[in-house]
Amino acid sequence: MLKTSDCYYELKTRSEVIQELSDWCKAQTGWSQWRWTTFMLKEAPLEIIEQDTVIRKLLDNGWRAPFIMKNYPHSFYSFHVDKENRPAAINLLLDDNVNSHTYFLGESLYKAQFRALELKYRYGYYYLLNTHIKHGVFNLQKDRYVFSISPPAEYIPEWWDEKAGKSKDNIVTRDSLKVFSALKLGLQELNL
Ligand SMILES: [Fe+2]
Repeated sequence: MLKTSDCYYELKTRSEVIQELSDWCKAQTGWSQWRWTTFMLKEAPLEIIEQDTVIRKLLDNGWRAPFIMKNYPHSFYSFHVDKENRPAAINLLLDDNVNSHTYFLGESLYKAQFRALELKYRYGYYYLLNTHIKHGVFNLQKDRYVFSISPPAEYIPEWWDEKAGKSKDNIVTRDSLKVFSALKLGLQELNL
């Protein structure tokens, strides 16, 4: 059965740059439309994120490709699993009190009814997300910005071909749970 502890984990240390990052996002124009979804992204500004204790520790320990996602108001980022090169992510929602809802989707309970759990982002806190469990976001009020960073390259399967970058057929939830626990443990060892 889908459990919150398999879907996400709240890090202990608060962000020190959430306000700066949020201001930076609001000042940006020309967000690139990413494929056919409502999903837009930019590389995260290093000059800001390097001032943050958590992000600095993550970068020092191999976490990679920090970026910011933007979602339109009144949009639904449909349910999906991330690619194999991103079995998990650490996210920081860059606003308080936005009417946006992140859901994880589990097994079928009865016919078209599925178990669903919500990740309620607490302002200023980072979350490790199991991105190989189906998830999606309803964003209902205003532009939504999320900082996100991907796990160290050692968590990318050896057979992964960055250029082909497609098949999700090999994602196995059982394996993703192992990766997720290993990452959680790693964060706890870093006292995060
Ligand atoms: Fe995702």
